[in-house]
Amino acid sequence: MTRASASRAPATAHAADLAFIHRFVPATDAAATPLLLLHGTGGDENDLLPLGRMIAPGAALLSPRGQVSEAGMPRFFRRLSEGVFDEADVVRRANELADFIAAARDAYGIAAPVAVGFSNGANIAAALLLLRPEALAGAALLRPMVTLSTPPEGTLPGTPVLMLSGSADPIVPTANAARLAVQLSARGGQVEHRVLPGGHGLMSSDVTAVKDWIGRFQATGA
Ligand code: MLT
Repeated sequence: MTRASASRAPATAHAADLAFIHRFVPATDAAATPLLLLHGTGGDENDLLPLGRMIAPGAALLSPRGQVSEAGMPRFFRRLSEGVFDEADVVRRANELADFIAAARDAYGIAAPVAVGFSNGANIAAALLLLRPEALAGAALLRPMVTLSTPPEGTLPGTPVLMLSGSADPIVPTANAARLAVQLSARGGQVEHRVLPGGHGLMSSDVTAVKDWIGRFQATGA
């Protein structure tokens, strides 16, 4: 497995030295904001590429693999049990991911990305927003939950955030997702939280909603 699959990185790039195994798909539309694709537990860097292509045709796609292994399943941070997170590890891994994003931006010559994360990927994206807000231009969080019980004070100066929850999600109670929405909007995030009829898995209505939101983001930056 190579660390980077880009074939046309700039000559000054050090794509092969980037710290996360990842896929990079160059943009075909230079005006489109790049997407950072963050998979769920047990996924990898390939999982969300088709979703990325669907919701933002032409955008550059940067898709890292989580560096934690839970019984062989990649994740972005450690958990102690279902929904109970090792918060020190969340902080450490969010900082490592933010550093990777900065290095990848330099290597591939891309702007700050919009994160599109599912489940565990949504949770690390939420941690990035709370801990390293400069890393992202915005975020679409699919089935996220509270990742840090008491996040530091900080500002998300109008950062657009879409949250999509499932009304019958057996893993994330709606009230928990609502608490995350409060954490993000209290820091200045422009949060749109929608609860879709459904469970934890992604549905076609998620694709429609996130495509619509990304389209508005690309058109207006908000
Ligand atoms: C997590 O981060 O643990 C998610 O919310 C649930 C999962 O990945 O299965």
